[in-house]
Order: sequence, then C-alpha cells, then structure tokens
Amino acid sequence: MPNSLVAIYPGSFDPPTNGHLDVISRGARLVNHLIVAVLQNTHKNSLFTIGERAEMLKEITAHLTNVEIDSFDGLLVDYAVRRNTSTILRGIRSVSDYETESQMALLNRRMRPETETLFLTASAEHSFLSSRMVKEIITLGGDASVFVPEPVMRRLQAKSHSAKE
Ligand code: PNS
Repeated sequence: MPNSLVAIYPGSFDPPTNGHLDVISRGARLVNHLIVAVLQNTHKNSLFTIGERAEMLKEITAHLTNVEIDSFDGLLVDYAVRRNTSTILRGIRSVSDYETESQMALLNRRMRPETETLFLTASAEHSFLSSRMVKEIITLGGDASVFVPEPVMRRLQAKSHSAKE
C-alpha cells in the first residue's frame, strides 16, 4: 500500500490497562497498521511474563483488525529498523509524563534521526491510571476491575489467588 503508515506502540504493559487500550484504539484509527510491542529486557519487578502480557494484549485488541502484538528486546530504534518503520506512538497523561517522554523521543531521534514520536493525550478518565497502581491495588486486596479490561482482570484475580495458596 503506498504511503502506508505503520507505527509502533512500545511499552511494558504489566499489565495492560484501560488507558493502554484507549491509546491503542485511538492510535489504530490514525495509522494503517499498529504494532503493539512488549518490551522484553525489563529490569522492573514484573507480575506477568512477556507471553502473558502478549496474550492479554491479543485478547483485548482482537476486535481491532489493523493491530498486531509483538515483543522486542534491545533498543526501540533498532526494533523500528527491523519492522521497517520510523514512527513511534506513546500516550501522555501528565506534565511529568511529558518530561520523560520528550527525553525518550529526543534520545531516539538522536540515535536514529528519522524517528518521529507521535503523542496521544490520555483520555481524562484514564489520566491517573498506571500499571504500577493497578498492581498495588491488587496486591493490597482492592478491586481494580474499573481500571483494566475484563480478560486482564481475570488474570489478575488468578495471580492473586495463586499467591494466597
Ligand atoms: O510502558 P513503559 O515502561 O513506560 O515503556 C517504556 C519503553 C518500553 C517505551 C522504553 O523503556 C523503551 O523504549 N525501552 C527500550 C530500550 C530503549 O530503546 N531505550 C532507549 C530509549 S529511552
């Protein structure tokens, strides 16, 4: 397809939230093909394996025909070369997000000048939401069902049940 726009939406997605799904749904309307790419080389304390995160992302985006779920390790700009695109998509919730996101965008552009990062402003109802907070709520016995899609909630419940056993 001429002028076909392919973008990568990278992230940890541990777990995917309604905020991620909002960015994916809105991003998928703006580009021809959206690759949601789960970072593999994470040093963060993760709750879900890369495979589990990819499976959850597949389930919650099954209705979006131009969305692909993949994973990557190493530098994002190198992965973008492998996927033959220069366009990155990220969501921004707050001024503090802007600071880290603009730093990442500038670093990526310095490493690979053709890289462009597109930012979507988080919808107001998701502007306070993060995977870290969802994990904390679940760990402390709270109800996170309004913050995550249903398939993610099921897996969170399964994790917290198995942790109690
Ligand atoms: O969901 P997150 O944790 O905010 O996503 C961060 C992510 C995956 C976009 C970022 O850590 C990343 O791109 N990592 C890959 C390594 C890399 O390219 N680092 C240099 C640019 S910051």
